[in-house]
Formats: sequence, C-alpha cells, structure tokens
Amino acid sequence: MIRTRNLTKKFAEKIAVNNLNLQIDAGEIYGFLGPNGAGKTTTIKMLTGILYPTSGEISIMGKNIRKHELEIKRAIGVVPDEPRMYHDLRGKEFVSFIMDIYDVDREEAKKRFDEICDVFDIDYLDEFIGEYSHGMSQKLMVATVLMRKPKVLFLDEPTVGLDARSARVLKMLLRKYADEGSTIFMTTHILEIAEKMCERIGIINEGDLIAEGTLDELRASGGKGEHLEDIFLSLTGANDEEMKEIVEGL
Ligand SMILES: Nc1ncnc2c1ncn2[C@@H]1O[C@H](COP(=O)(O)OP(=O)(O)O)[C@@H](O)[C@H]1O
Ligand SMILES: [Mg+2]
Repeated sequence: MIRTRNLTKKFAEKIAVNNLNLQIDAGEIYGFLGPNGAGKTTTIKMLTGILYPTSGEISIMGKNIRKHELEIKRAIGVVPDEPRMYHDLRGKEFVSFIMDIYDVDREEAKKRFDEICDVFDIDYLDEFIGEYSHGMSQKLMVATVLMRKPKVLFLDEPTVGLDARSARVLKMLLRKYADEGSTIFMTTHILEIAEKMCERIGIINEGDLIAEGTLDELRASGGKGEHLEDIFLSLTGANDEEMKEIVEGL
C-alpha cells in the first residue's frame, strides 16, 4: 500500500531524508519513530503529495504518486501535525465542507462521524474552529478523516495535544480501521506510543532509516534493552550518561 524507492529530500545542503526504502502492506499499523528533526514530517509530506522529493519514487496503493496524484489524494487520509482548518468556520460547517469536496456517501460518512464524535466527546461543533484548543482541532480532524474511511491513513504525531483518554480512544479507532483493512502510517517521537500502537516500527535518525521491524526484531537487530526506549536510545546514539550531563547542565 505504501512503497518508496530511494526516497530523498534535500533542503539546500541539508539531507532531511536519505535514500528511504519502505514497504507497508494492507492492514498494517506502521510507526515511524525518531527524535526531533529526524525527517518524519518531511517523509509524511512527500508520501501525501504535499512536498516533492528531490529524488526517488513513491507508490501508494500500487500507483505512482506523480502520475496519479489526484486519485491518490482522494483515496488517502491525512492528519497533519498542525491541523490547519478554517478558523472562521464552525465545526459542523467544516464537516459539511469536507463531505462536499470529497466524493463521500454522505449518509454513511455521517453515521461514522457521529459514532466517532460520540467516543471522542466531540460536542463543540457549533463553536468556531478558531476557538478550539489543539486537542479539540486534532480530534475533529481525525473524525473528518476517518469518516471517509480512507484506504491509507497518514498521521503525523497524532497524539500530541490529546488527553490520556482521547489518546486511548484514538488507539482503539486506529486498531478498528486497520482490522477493517485500512493501512496506517503514523509518526511519533514518543516511544511508548509506537510500542503500544504499532505492529511494525521504523526508526529514522538524521534522515536515515536505521532499524525496522517488530519490537522483537528490533531487539535482535542490535538495539540493547528490553524496552523500546533503551533500543531507541542505543540505536540513535544517545546514552544515559550524556543525557544526564545535558540535564544537569541546564
Ligand atoms: N522547509 C524546510 N526548509 C529547510 N529545512 C527543513 C524544512 N523542513 C524541514 N527541514 C529540516 O529537515 C530536517 C527534518 O525535519 P522534519 O522532517 O520536520 O523532522 P521531524 O518531523 O522528524 O521532527 C530538520 O533538520 C529540519 O530542520
Ligand atoms: Mg515532525
């Protein structure tokens, strides 16, 4: 469902993503994990057609993104790291707008949307989006994306700004949609999230994919430690002593 070949993005001299090769199958929940500045957002922007790669190829649902851009954009769902929505619309107007621009079965989408609002406690659709908190916008964004039941779903740091309960609901929703056949690609810098939500994890550091696999496979591939945190820190080259020094120096 998602495939890249030698995907690379350079910003002037800076290589943000370096020769990335990914292959993600239908129904998978794939976690793209890495420290700040690793290249996660740049990757997701290329995969969703927002940013053009410097070189390399991307195919989504078996189709080349350059040749089938609109078709792919119609079929996928994207929850960006900053939900950019129209501040002067009320929540319900935004939902109606999304239903208009995407070719959705309104009745079905409405039913799904209401269900998601129910579990997510979205009861603020009469208010203006400009008055929402980050978490409120994030939940509305997730609901309007999921109601379309996209075949491939991209989420950039989806739990940032969500309270514990909402994060848990999101996890359950993603599980449900993956079980129904959606493919999910999510980024996170929070190890616990990747560990709990994702079946397969890719670790990116300074633009390079440095490890990939299930938690067990990552353990076997040289990451030291029981928990993903230890594995992650050992693979990304940070060590406890160094961190202690940094924190003590603050
Ligand atoms: N538009 C841009 N122009 C220049 N550099 C950028 C731009 N976007 C991202 N970068 C750089 O690319 C690297 C990867 O950024 P990003 O993909 O946002 O990381 P992440 O999402 O993993 O935190 C960083 O060094 C960042 O400063
Ligand atoms: Mg990012």
